[in-house]
Amino acid sequence: AAAEKGGFRSFMDKEIDEQPQAVADTLLGRTDAAGALVLDELRIDEEALKRVSKIVLVACGTASYAGMVAKYAIEHWTRIPCEVELAHEFRYRDPVVDDRTLVVSISQSGETMDTLMAVKHARELGAMTIAICNTHGSTIPRESDAVLYTHAGPEIAVASTKAFLAQITAVYVLGLYLAQLRGGTYADEAQAVMKELHEVPAKIRTVLDAMGRVREIARFMADSPAVLFLGRHVGYPVAMEGALKLKELAYIHAEGFAAGELKHGPIALVEPGQPVFVVVPSPSTEHGLHGKVVSNIQEIRARGARTLVIAEEGDESVVPFADEIISVPTVPTLLAPLLTVVPLQVFACELASAKGLDVDQPRNLAKSVTVE
Ligand code: G6P
Repeated sequence: AAAEKGGFRSFMDKEIDEQPQAVADTLLGRTDAAGALVLDELRIDEEALKRVSKIVLVACGTASYAGMVAKYAIEHWTRIPCEVELAHEFRYRDPVVDDRTLVVSISQSGETMDTLMAVKHARELGAMTIAICNTHGSTIPRESDAVLYTHAGPEIAVASTKAFLAQITAVYVLGLYLAQLRGGTYADEAQAVMKELHEVPAKIRTVLDAMGRVREIARFMADSPAVLFLGRHVGYPVAMEGALKLKELAYIHAEGFAAGELKHGPIALVEPGQPVFVVVPSPSTEHGLHGKVVSNIQEIRARGARTLVIAEEGDESVVPFADEIISVPTVPTLLAPLLTVVPLQVFACELASAKGLDVDQPRNLAKSVTVE
Protein backbone atom coordinates (compact mmCIF):
# COMPACT_ATOMS: atom_id res chain seq x y z
CA ALA A 1 0.00 0.00 0.00
CA ALA A 2 2.91 2.36 0.75
CA ALA A 3 4.04 2.06 -2.88
CA GLU A 4 0.55 2.80 -4.16
CA LYS A 5 0.59 6.01 -2.17
CA GLY A 6 3.64 7.10 -4.15
CA GLY A 7 5.48 8.45 -1.13
CA PHE A 8 2.47 10.34 0.21
CA ARG A 9 1.21 9.83 3.76
CA SER A 10 -2.26 8.91 2.53
CA PHE A 11 -4.23 8.45 -0.68
CA MET A 12 -5.94 11.71 0.10
CA ASP A 13 -2.66 13.62 0.26
CA LYS A 14 -1.75 12.03 -3.06
CA GLU A 15 -5.09 12.79 -4.65
CA ILE A 16 -5.01 16.41 -3.52
CA ASP A 17 -1.60 16.66 -5.14
CA GLU A 18 -2.91 15.13 -8.38
CA GLN A 19 -5.50 17.87 -8.87
CA PRO A 20 -3.63 19.88 -11.50
CA GLN A 21 -3.53 16.71 -13.61
CA ALA A 22 -7.18 15.88 -12.93
CA VAL A 23 -8.23 19.29 -14.26
CA ALA A 24 -5.85 19.18 -17.23
CA ASP A 25 -6.98 15.67 -18.20
CA THR A 26 -10.64 16.66 -17.97
CA LEU A 27 -9.98 19.50 -20.42
CA LEU A 28 -7.94 17.33 -22.75
CA GLY A 29 -9.35 16.58 -26.18
CA ARG A 30 -12.40 18.74 -25.71
CA THR A 31 -11.33 21.57 -28.00
CA ASP A 32 -10.31 21.62 -31.66
CA ALA A 33 -7.17 23.23 -33.10
CA ALA A 34 -8.92 26.61 -33.18
CA GLY A 35 -9.95 26.33 -29.53
CA ALA A 36 -13.65 25.67 -30.13
CA LEU A 37 -15.34 23.15 -27.87
CA VAL A 38 -15.95 19.73 -29.37
CA LEU A 39 -18.08 17.26 -27.47
CA ASP A 40 -18.92 14.65 -30.12
CA GLU A 41 -18.50 12.09 -27.35
CA LEU A 42 -21.90 13.15 -26.01
CA ARG A 43 -23.57 11.57 -29.03
CA ILE A 44 -26.68 13.52 -28.24
CA ASP A 45 -29.14 15.23 -30.55
CA GLU A 46 -27.81 18.79 -30.91
CA GLU A 47 -31.20 20.09 -31.95
CA ALA A 48 -32.70 18.75 -28.74
CA LEU A 49 -29.90 20.41 -26.76
CA LYS A 50 -30.65 23.71 -28.43
CA ARG A 51 -34.27 23.43 -27.34
CA VAL A 52 -33.45 22.85 -23.67
CA SER A 53 -35.38 25.36 -21.56
CA LYS A 54 -34.17 24.33 -18.12
CA ILE A 55 -31.27 22.44 -16.59
CA VAL A 56 -31.52 20.54 -13.31
CA LEU A 57 -28.30 19.36 -11.70
CA VAL A 58 -28.67 16.41 -9.34
CA ALA A 59 -26.00 14.93 -7.09
CA CYS A 60 -25.12 14.04 -3.50
CA GLY A 61 -22.39 15.17 -1.12
CA THR A 62 -19.35 16.86 -2.59
CA ALA A 63 -20.67 16.37 -6.13
CA SER A 64 -23.69 18.51 -5.25
CA TYR A 65 -21.35 21.44 -4.59
CA ALA A 66 -19.97 21.03 -8.11
CA GLY A 67 -23.63 21.35 -9.13
CA MET A 68 -23.92 24.61 -7.20
CA VAL A 69 -20.87 25.99 -8.98
CA ALA A 70 -22.46 24.85 -12.25
CA LYS A 71 -25.57 26.93 -11.62
CA TYR A 72 -23.56 30.16 -11.32
CA ALA A 73 -21.46 29.42 -14.39
CA ILE A 74 -23.98 27.85 -16.75
CA GLU A 75 -26.72 30.42 -16.16
CA HIS A 76 -24.23 33.22 -16.72
CA TRP A 77 -22.85 31.72 -19.90
CA THR A 78 -26.02 30.34 -21.48
CA ARG A 79 -28.99 32.15 -19.87
CA ILE A 80 -30.62 28.73 -19.47
CA PRO A 81 -32.29 28.61 -16.04
CA CYS A 82 -30.50 26.08 -13.83
CA GLU A 83 -31.62 24.42 -10.65
CA VAL A 84 -29.44 22.33 -8.43
CA GLU A 85 -30.91 19.78 -6.13
CA LEU A 86 -29.81 16.96 -3.89
CA ALA A 87 -30.72 13.84 -5.83
CA HIS A 88 -32.74 12.28 -3.00
CA GLU A 89 -34.83 15.43 -2.61
CA PHE A 90 -35.44 15.79 -6.35
CA ARG A 91 -36.67 12.22 -6.68
CA TYR A 92 -39.39 12.40 -4.07
CA ARG A 93 -40.98 15.82 -4.45
CA ASP A 94 -42.85 15.79 -7.77
CA PRO A 95 -40.42 18.05 -9.67
CA VAL A 96 -41.48 19.98 -12.79
CA VAL A 97 -39.64 18.21 -15.60
CA ASP A 98 -40.51 17.76 -19.27
CA ASP A 99 -38.84 16.89 -22.58
CA ARG A 100 -37.17 20.28 -22.74
CA THR A 101 -35.51 19.72 -19.35
CA LEU A 102 -31.89 18.62 -19.28
CA VAL A 103 -31.06 16.72 -16.11
CA VAL A 104 -27.31 16.63 -15.45
CA SER A 105 -26.21 14.15 -12.80
CA ILE A 106 -22.79 14.46 -11.18
CA SER A 107 -21.21 11.42 -9.54
CA GLN A 108 -17.65 10.27 -9.05
CA SER A 109 -18.54 6.61 -8.67
CA GLY A 110 -21.52 6.46 -10.99
CA GLU A 111 -23.08 4.10 -8.45
CA THR A 112 -24.67 6.40 -5.87
CA MET A 113 -28.18 4.99 -5.54
CA ASP A 114 -29.83 8.30 -4.65
CA THR A 115 -28.40 9.89 -7.80
CA LEU A 116 -29.27 6.88 -9.95
CA MET A 117 -32.89 6.96 -8.79
CA ALA A 118 -33.09 10.67 -9.63
CA VAL A 119 -31.78 10.01 -13.13
CA LYS A 120 -34.24 7.17 -13.72
CA HIS A 121 -37.09 9.32 -12.48
CA ALA A 122 -36.04 12.19 -14.75
CA ARG A 123 -36.05 9.86 -17.76
CA GLU A 124 -39.49 8.56 -16.88
CA LEU A 125 -40.66 12.16 -16.89
CA GLY A 126 -39.23 12.63 -20.39
CA ALA A 127 -36.11 14.65 -19.57
CA MET A 128 -32.86 14.40 -21.45
CA THR A 129 -30.11 13.13 -19.13
CA ILE A 130 -26.37 13.68 -19.16
CA ALA A 131 -24.11 12.01 -16.59
CA ILE A 132 -20.90 13.69 -15.43
CA CYS A 133 -19.00 10.74 -14.04
CA ASN A 134 -15.49 9.56 -13.20
CA THR A 135 -16.00 5.81 -13.56
CA HIS A 136 -16.19 4.16 -16.97
CA GLY A 137 -18.90 1.57 -17.37
CA SER A 138 -20.64 2.46 -14.13
CA THR A 139 -24.41 2.39 -13.72
CA ILE A 140 -25.40 6.07 -13.89
CA PRO A 141 -23.78 6.67 -17.30
CA ARG A 142 -25.42 3.49 -18.60
CA GLU A 143 -28.81 4.72 -17.44
CA SER A 144 -28.32 8.17 -19.00
CA ASP A 145 -28.74 9.46 -22.55
CA ALA A 146 -25.18 10.75 -22.64
CA VAL A 147 -22.04 10.93 -20.54
CA LEU A 148 -19.26 13.43 -20.08
CA TYR A 149 -16.46 11.66 -18.25
CA THR A 150 -14.23 13.43 -15.78
CA HIS A 151 -10.68 12.16 -16.08
CA ALA A 152 -9.50 12.40 -12.49
CA GLY A 153 -8.24 8.81 -12.46
CA PRO A 154 -9.20 6.37 -9.71
CA GLU A 155 -10.05 8.08 -6.44
CA ILE A 156 -9.29 5.81 -3.47
CA ALA A 157 -9.80 8.07 -0.44
CA VAL A 158 -13.43 7.92 0.64
CA ALA A 159 -13.90 11.70 0.76
CA SER A 160 -13.73 13.28 -2.66
CA THR A 161 -11.02 15.76 -3.68
CA LYS A 162 -9.58 15.44 -7.17
CA ALA A 163 -12.87 14.11 -8.54
CA PHE A 164 -14.52 17.29 -7.25
CA LEU A 165 -12.15 19.53 -9.19
CA ALA A 166 -12.66 17.38 -12.27
CA GLN A 167 -16.45 17.66 -11.83
CA ILE A 168 -16.25 21.44 -11.65
CA THR A 169 -14.08 21.42 -14.76
CA ALA A 170 -16.59 19.21 -16.58
CA VAL A 171 -19.54 21.46 -15.77
CA TYR A 172 -17.58 24.42 -17.13
CA VAL A 173 -16.88 22.47 -20.31
CA LEU A 174 -20.55 21.54 -20.63
CA GLY A 175 -21.69 25.11 -19.98
CA LEU A 176 -19.28 26.60 -22.49
CA TYR A 177 -20.26 23.97 -25.04
CA LEU A 178 -23.93 24.85 -24.61
CA ALA A 179 -23.09 28.55 -24.92
CA GLN A 180 -21.24 27.87 -28.14
CA LEU A 181 -23.94 25.58 -29.52
CA ARG A 182 -26.81 27.90 -28.81
CA GLY A 183 -25.12 31.16 -29.82
CA GLY A 184 -25.91 34.36 -27.95
CA THR A 185 -23.84 36.65 -25.81
CA TYR A 186 -21.35 34.14 -24.51
CA ALA A 187 -20.81 32.10 -27.66
CA ASP A 188 -17.88 34.28 -28.64
CA GLU A 189 -16.39 34.22 -25.19
CA ALA A 190 -16.47 30.43 -24.73
CA GLN A 191 -13.06 30.02 -26.34
CA ALA A 192 -11.52 32.77 -24.23
CA VAL A 193 -12.82 31.13 -21.05
CA MET A 194 -11.45 27.77 -22.22
CA LYS A 195 -8.08 29.44 -22.65
CA GLU A 196 -8.24 30.69 -19.06
CA LEU A 197 -9.23 27.20 -17.92
CA HIS A 198 -6.16 25.71 -19.55
CA GLU A 199 -4.04 27.96 -17.35
CA VAL A 200 -5.70 26.76 -14.16
CA PRO A 201 -3.72 23.52 -13.55
CA ALA A 202 -0.46 25.47 -13.20
CA LYS A 203 -2.21 27.85 -10.80
CA ILE A 204 -3.45 24.94 -8.69
CA ARG A 205 0.17 23.78 -8.50
CA THR A 206 1.13 27.24 -7.25
CA VAL A 207 -1.48 26.93 -4.50
CA LEU A 208 -0.30 23.43 -3.56
CA ASP A 209 3.31 24.58 -3.39
CA ALA A 210 2.41 27.24 -0.82
CA MET A 211 0.51 25.12 1.70
CA GLY A 212 3.13 25.14 4.47
CA ARG A 213 1.38 27.78 6.55
CA VAL A 214 -2.06 26.19 6.07
CA ARG A 215 -0.66 22.91 7.40
CA GLU A 216 0.80 24.71 10.40
CA ILE A 217 -2.53 26.42 11.14
CA ALA A 218 -4.32 23.06 10.82
CA ARG A 219 -2.01 21.46 13.36
CA PHE A 220 -2.51 24.34 15.82
CA MET A 221 -6.27 23.98 15.39
CA ALA A 222 -6.55 20.24 16.03
CA ASP A 223 -8.56 20.85 19.22
CA SER A 224 -11.08 23.30 17.74
CA PRO A 225 -14.63 22.33 18.68
CA ALA A 226 -16.21 24.10 15.70
CA VAL A 227 -15.16 25.93 12.54
CA LEU A 228 -17.28 28.17 10.33
CA PHE A 229 -16.86 28.80 6.61
CA LEU A 230 -18.23 31.80 4.72
CA GLY A 231 -18.36 32.44 1.01
CA ARG A 232 -20.40 34.31 -1.50
CA HIS A 233 -21.28 33.68 -5.16
CA VAL A 234 -19.16 30.68 -6.27
CA GLY A 235 -17.35 30.99 -2.95
CA TYR A 236 -20.54 29.78 -1.25
CA PRO A 237 -20.32 26.18 -2.50
CA VAL A 238 -16.60 26.31 -1.70
CA ALA A 239 -17.47 27.22 1.90
CA MET A 240 -19.95 24.32 2.00
CA GLU A 241 -17.31 21.92 0.71
CA GLY A 242 -14.71 23.23 3.19
CA ALA A 243 -17.13 22.49 6.00
CA LEU A 244 -18.04 19.06 4.65
CA LYS A 245 -14.38 18.06 4.33
CA LEU A 246 -13.74 19.02 7.95
CA LYS A 247 -16.75 17.04 9.19
CA GLU A 248 -15.86 14.00 7.11
CA LEU A 249 -12.15 13.86 7.85
CA ALA A 250 -11.68 15.47 11.26
CA TYR A 251 -15.11 14.90 12.89
CA ILE A 252 -15.28 18.57 13.78
CA HIS A 253 -18.56 20.41 13.77
CA ALA A 254 -18.38 22.70 10.77
CA GLU A 255 -20.84 24.78 8.85
CA GLY A 256 -20.67 26.62 5.56
CA PHE A 257 -22.74 29.75 5.03
CA ALA A 258 -23.46 32.23 2.31
CA ALA A 259 -21.64 35.32 3.60
CA GLY A 260 -24.67 37.52 2.91
CA GLU A 261 -26.67 35.35 5.30
CA LEU A 262 -24.33 36.11 8.20
CA LYS A 263 -26.39 38.97 9.59
CA HIS A 264 -29.57 36.90 9.27
CA GLY A 265 -28.50 34.40 11.90
CA PRO A 266 -25.07 32.78 11.85
CA ILE A 267 -23.33 35.84 13.28
CA ALA A 268 -24.91 34.86 16.62
CA LEU A 269 -22.49 31.91 16.67
CA VAL A 270 -19.44 34.14 16.59
CA GLU A 271 -17.75 34.48 19.93
CA PRO A 272 -14.17 35.36 20.83
CA GLY A 273 -11.71 32.86 19.38
CA GLN A 274 -14.19 31.25 16.95
CA PRO A 275 -12.24 30.28 13.80
CA VAL A 276 -13.94 31.42 10.60
CA PHE A 277 -12.65 30.76 7.10
CA VAL A 278 -13.75 33.38 4.62
CA VAL A 279 -13.53 32.81 0.87
CA VAL A 280 -13.16 36.30 -0.62
CA PRO A 281 -14.17 36.98 -4.23
CA SER A 282 -11.69 38.66 -6.52
CA PRO A 283 -11.67 42.48 -6.25
CA SER A 284 -12.66 42.39 -9.93
CA THR A 285 -15.95 40.56 -9.21
CA GLU A 286 -19.01 42.50 -10.34
CA HIS A 287 -21.54 44.30 -8.15
CA GLY A 288 -19.10 45.14 -5.38
CA LEU A 289 -19.27 41.64 -3.91
CA HIS A 290 -15.66 41.81 -2.85
CA GLY A 291 -16.28 44.84 -0.63
CA LYS A 292 -19.35 43.21 0.88
CA VAL A 293 -17.37 40.13 1.92
CA VAL A 294 -14.54 42.29 3.29
CA SER A 295 -17.19 44.03 5.45
CA ASN A 296 -18.30 40.61 6.69
CA ILE A 297 -14.74 39.85 7.78
CA GLN A 298 -14.64 43.16 9.60
CA GLU A 299 -17.95 42.39 11.35
CA ILE A 300 -16.92 38.98 12.64
CA ARG A 301 -13.46 40.19 13.58
CA ALA A 302 -15.04 42.94 15.70
CA ARG A 303 -16.81 40.14 17.61
CA GLY A 304 -13.58 38.33 18.27
CA ALA A 305 -13.56 35.76 15.47
CA ARG A 306 -10.23 34.37 14.35
CA THR A 307 -10.36 35.10 10.63
CA LEU A 308 -8.68 32.80 8.11
CA VAL A 309 -9.01 34.55 4.80
CA ILE A 310 -8.61 33.08 1.34
CA ALA A 311 -8.07 35.95 -1.08
CA GLU A 312 -6.62 36.76 -4.46
CA GLU A 313 -2.91 37.50 -4.41
CA GLY A 314 -2.22 41.20 -3.99
CA ASP A 315 -5.60 41.88 -2.38
CA GLU A 316 -4.45 44.33 0.30
CA SER A 317 -7.94 45.24 1.48
CA VAL A 318 -8.23 42.11 3.65
CA VAL A 319 -4.95 42.69 5.49
CA PRO A 320 -6.34 44.79 8.39
CA PHE A 321 -9.03 42.21 9.25
CA ALA A 322 -7.31 38.89 8.62
CA ASP A 323 -5.54 36.83 11.25
CA GLU A 324 -4.23 34.65 8.45
CA ILE A 325 -4.21 35.29 4.71
CA ILE A 326 -4.05 32.44 2.24
CA SER A 327 -3.38 33.82 -1.24
CA VAL A 328 -4.45 32.24 -4.50
CA PRO A 329 -3.52 33.33 -8.05
CA THR A 330 -5.85 35.52 -10.12
CA VAL A 331 -8.49 33.79 -12.23
CA PRO A 332 -11.85 34.89 -13.65
CA THR A 333 -14.43 34.87 -10.85
CA LEU A 334 -16.40 31.87 -12.07
CA LEU A 335 -13.28 29.68 -12.21
CA ALA A 336 -12.08 30.57 -8.70
CA PRO A 337 -13.47 27.45 -6.93
CA LEU A 338 -10.78 25.35 -8.63
CA LEU A 339 -8.23 27.31 -6.59
CA THR A 340 -10.00 28.44 -3.44
CA VAL A 341 -11.18 24.97 -2.37
CA VAL A 342 -7.65 23.55 -2.37
CA PRO A 343 -6.45 25.15 0.90
CA LEU A 344 -9.65 23.95 2.58
CA GLN A 345 -8.99 20.36 1.48
CA VAL A 346 -5.40 20.56 2.68
CA PHE A 347 -6.55 22.10 5.97
CA ALA A 348 -9.06 19.30 6.70
CA CYS A 349 -6.64 16.57 5.66
CA GLU A 350 -3.79 17.97 7.73
CA LEU A 351 -5.92 18.60 10.79
CA ALA A 352 -7.36 15.07 10.68
CA SER A 353 -3.86 13.64 10.32
CA ALA A 354 -2.70 15.72 13.29
CA LYS A 355 -5.51 14.11 15.29
CA GLY A 356 -4.18 10.72 14.27
CA LEU A 357 -7.25 9.87 12.20
CA ASP A 358 -7.42 7.72 9.08
CA VAL A 359 -8.10 10.34 6.42
CA ASP A 360 -8.61 7.75 3.69
CA GLN A 361 -11.30 5.86 5.54
CA PRO A 362 -13.24 8.11 7.89
CA ARG A 363 -15.60 6.40 10.30
CA ASN A 364 -19.16 5.64 9.18
CA LEU A 365 -18.60 6.71 5.56
CA ALA A 366 -18.51 4.69 2.35
CA LYS A 367 -16.88 5.63 -0.95
CA SER A 368 -20.06 4.95 -2.84
CA VAL A 369 -23.38 4.65 -1.17
CA THR A 370 -25.31 2.05 -3.13
CA VAL A 371 -28.45 2.07 -1.02
CA GLU A 372 -31.11 4.75 -0.85
C1 G6P B 1 -20.30 9.40 -0.55
C2 G6P B 1 -18.86 9.88 -0.40
C3 G6P B 1 -18.74 11.35 -0.72
C4 G6P B 1 -19.32 11.64 -2.09
C5 G6P B 1 -20.76 11.14 -2.20
C6 G6P B 1 -21.25 11.18 -3.63
O1 G6P B 1 -21.09 9.90 0.47
O2 G6P B 1 -18.41 9.63 0.92
O3 G6P B 1 -17.36 11.74 -0.72
O4 G6P B 1 -19.27 13.02 -2.32
O5 G6P B 1 -20.85 9.78 -1.80
O6 G6P B 1 -20.54 10.22 -4.38
P1 G6P B 1 -20.51 10.14 -5.94
O7 G6P B 1 -19.73 8.90 -6.26
O8 G6P B 1 -21.92 10.05 -6.41
O9 G6P B 1 -19.84 11.37 -6.43
